[in-house]
Amino acid sequence: MPLSVIILAAGLGKRMGSEVPKVLHPLAGRPMVAHVIERAKELAPDAIHVVYGHGGERVRTAFPDADIDWWLQQKQLGTGHAVSQAMPGVPDNHTVLVLCGDVPLVRNASLRRLLEAGSGVAVMTAKLRDPKGYGRIVRRENKVVAIVEDRDATPEQAKITEVNTGLMALRAAELKRWLGRLRNDNSQGEYYLTDIISMAFAEGVDVLGIQIDAPEEVLGINDKMQLAEAERSFQRAAARDLMQKGVTVADPDRLDIRGRVTVGSDVFIDVGVVLCGDVHLGDRTQIGPNCVITNSRLGADNIVHANCVLEGASTEAGCEIGPFARFRPGAELASRAKVGNFVEVKKSCIGKGSKVNHLSYIGDTTIGAQVNVGAGTITCNYDGAAKHKTTIGDGAFIGSGVMLVAPVEVGPGATIGAGSTITKDAPAETLSVARARQTAVPGWQRPTKAKSEKE
Ligand code: UD1
Ligand code: MG
Repeated sequence: MPLSVIILAAGLGKRMGSEVPKVLHPLAGRPMVAHVIERAKELAPDAIHVVYGHGGERVRTAFPDADIDWWLQQKQLGTGHAVSQAMPGVPDNHTVLVLCGDVPLVRNASLRRLLEAGSGVAVMTAKLRDPKGYGRIVRRENKVVAIVEDRDATPEQAKITEVNTGLMALRAAELKRWLGRLRNDNSQGEYYLTDIISMAFAEGVDVLGIQIDAPEEVLGINDKMQLAEAERSFQRAAARDLMQKGVTVADPDRLDIRGRVTVGSDVFIDVGVVLCGDVHLGDRTQIGPNCVITNSRLGADNIVHANCVLEGASTEAGCEIGPFARFRPGAELASRAKVGNFVEVKKSCIGKGSKVNHLSYIGDTTIGAQVNVGAGTITCNYDGAAKHKTTIGDGAFIGSGVMLVAPVEVGPGATIGAGSTITKDAPAETLSVARARQTAVPGWQRPTKAKSEKE
């Protein structure tokens, strides 16, 4: 049967205490509703409808993809009313899967179970120790006969621990008919989607309650505490996934993954590491504590020492980085290159076995193989208007504290004397020195403080 997914994302989210619409608050570095949209896409449905409302345009513009249909719910009159907004876009012969923008941890397998239930209506349920706040699943002889909202439950019903997760699958034609009959004469004055369950039962349509094994999957996020809980739950699962691939994670509670990570064998990740976007860590690569790595590809046998920030970098095998190194987009290291502490590298290639070990800025630069760049060397790539390139040939030796004023080229095997400011190309296999001569000034006196300034 063709499938339409409807994602409810119009709720006010008042309890988040924020100007940002609830479904845009980040979970694992992406808006929580992005996770729901991704789950929906994995099901390859015929259409994905998102019902938005509060702060609506912000939600809409956060997802410019053409394959989402957006429906504005002007007033938040309840979940049933929200689903109704999208129904003009749903053909009668479709199955409808209702998801919630604030229930982002649900797994693909659970959604498939719901869709494959093969029943008139399938509702995803969970057993909770504390069911307060949730709709209760009322069963009779194993059939779901109704869902009663917390605030409308009798004391007897309130004791039921099986709750509605807000996720359900059903046939569009029936859903439309039932939505048309919803009333709002309940404690909240809302059109409850959940009221269709008793209508289904009355018509003899089977309602199946699919109980989920891991209730944290269907945790609904209403406030910042639940957001933090969901984040931890997500991160624990992500760490578990890496460990199953053989990664040694120093402490799964102190690793944050905000993107997609692929790994070789025997990777080690120390505490406090944050991995964002697409990150690849090659065989036996080790990431030290407190590193933030974004959209980067590290080759095999790399050692990244503590406190490095790498973004848009790629390295070959055997490189050593940090501690306290910063790579900006376009930093490329050939095999066995070394970049040490307090070195910033941007849009530059550092050749095989070359070293930039201390306190440098390397920008818009190509460094050949076996080059040594001395401490405090800076490529002066910006003249206030444009960026210029520096090229350093194989085997060059750049002394400490050198300013390479780009555009400039240092030939292969060249040596640059410490403290030089190089403004012209430096020839190969030659020493270039460009600095003022040292002079000793006889009889020179140090300035002294005036009396009043003395303590
Ligand atoms: C809802 C269910 C409850 C279930 C719980 C699970 C109803 C009536 N109740 O209650 O049985 O146990 O979810 O978390 O369905 N929304 C809109 N427009 C609206 C109202 C809500 O888009 O007018 C969206 C919200 O953004 C949210 C979802 O619908 O994604 C659920 O709404 P919420 O207000 O959180 O419902 P609950 O009271 O939690
Ligand atoms: Mg809710």
